[in-house]
Amino acid sequence: MLEAASWAASANNEQPWEFVYALKSTPGFDTIWNCLMPGNQPWNKHAAGFIVTIARKTFTANGNPNANAEHDSGIATGYLLLQAASMDIYTHPMGGVDKAKLSAELKLTEDQKMLCVISFGYLDDAEKLEEPFKGRELSARVRKPVSEIAKEL
Ligand SMILES: Cc1cc2nc3c(=O)[nH]c(=O)nc-3n(C[C@H](O)[C@H](O)[C@H](O)COP(=O)(O)O)c2cc1C
Repeated sequence: MLEAASWAASANNEQPWEFVYALKSTPGFDTIWNCLMPGNQPWNKHAAGFIVTIARKTFTANGNPNANAEHDSGIATGYLLLQAASMDIYTHPMGGVDKAKLSAELKLTEDQKMLCVISFGYLDDAEKLEEPFKGRELSARVRKPVSEIAKEL
């Protein structure tokens, strides 16, 4: 999954993405889990692991701001999610994280912006979940039609 992310395109080939991961039953897993918002904590007890996505805000070569850093890190994250899906690994990106607390735990610098935390694992039985998580898991996935998000100029 991380290898797939590493092949994303980026401005100047800067590769501004950084990832910190932790697997279940490790102190790192508990550190990240403790920084999730309360609504994200119950169902994430069962995750196999977490990946924190981070964007480096400036160019390594000259320290200038990289306006594309978050965009490019998003591409890398998308590749990571697709690679996981191709391996039947289920993922769930979360912005519902106390980012200030987790950034401090990870000792991130001013140059590093935390984007989200992705939990991942193999599919389990939704019946094991309590509400409202069970209902959310079992409801149909919805998206805007392509005609609403794209137009010919
Ligand atoms: C940046 C980002 C932040 C998200 N934050 C959360 C979150 O904190 N908690 C959560 O349950 N889902 C979160 N999601 C998942 C979305 O809610 C989910 O993708 C959306 O509801 C559509 O569901 P689906 O992708 O399963 O079809 C997040 C997704 C992204 C991309």
